[in-house]
Amino acid sequence: MSRKKFLLGNWKMNKVPSEALSFMEKAPEMAALASKKGIEIGVAPTFLCLEAVKAKAPKGFVVSAQNVNEHSSGAYTGEVSPLMLRAIGIDHAIIGHSERREYNGETSKACNLKIKALLAEGLTPVYCCGESLATYEAGETVDFVKTQIEEGFADLTKEEAKKVVVAYEPIWAIGTGKSASKEDAEKTISAIRGVLKEFFGETAEEIRILYGGSVKPNNIKAYLACPDIDGALVGGASLAPESFMELIEESV
Ligand code: PGA
Repeated sequence: MSRKKFLLGNWKMNKVPSEALSFMEKAPEMAALASKKGIEIGVAPTFLCLEAVKAKAPKGFVVSAQNVNEHSSGAYTGEVSPLMLRAIGIDHAIIGHSERREYNGETSKACNLKIKALLAEGLTPVYCCGESLATYEAGETVDFVKTQIEEGFADLTKEEAKKVVVAYEPIWAIGTGKSASKEDAEKTISAIRGVLKEFFGETAEEIRILYGGSVKPNNIKAYLACPDIDGALVGGASLAPESFMELIEESV
């Protein structure tokens, strides 16, 4: 089973619409290079920029939200639903990023509801997991991440599970310039695939698992060369179009 490599830029709370549009001027060039390399690419802007970025996105260039609410509509002030994303042509959403877990108290069980809501609308969840430095130093990474996977994927069918993309991002590697070694990343990602196999059998071979945390043009190739690592979720290095182009160039 060959899983197409996926490079997704997470812009976090950066870029006003004019800046997002200026990035997208380079999108056709990016898409052409990605297609030559045989990889899938995309970016996750803020809700505010989604529609404008989507309008400029070439075919196959993924535009993802960074979060979503689990309900379709109703009295949830400040929230955006999967139905609304679909209505403007958005088909991916990042779920459970460690910054949302930390600052917004999101739990894996809450993420599970969001994942189900996205799948019900035909959208692709990019489900994030990853351990803190203390957990890493205590040697408890695999156990910790396994629980996040079990809770996030709870009650999904095989058909649903294979549509989810997982992003393993050690918290201590995010925005710190201190990336995980490719051996550590591969070890944890292969353990994640192991848990998915327990739940979903051979379907786990179809689920893409990305690495995230200080991925840069000078280290992306090493990660993507690992057998279980199917791409990267990239923050800082995805913001400038030049750097994003370099990530694509160096990816495979
Ligand atoms: P970083 O962020 O690449 O800046 O470390 C990754 C992420 O948070 O998704």
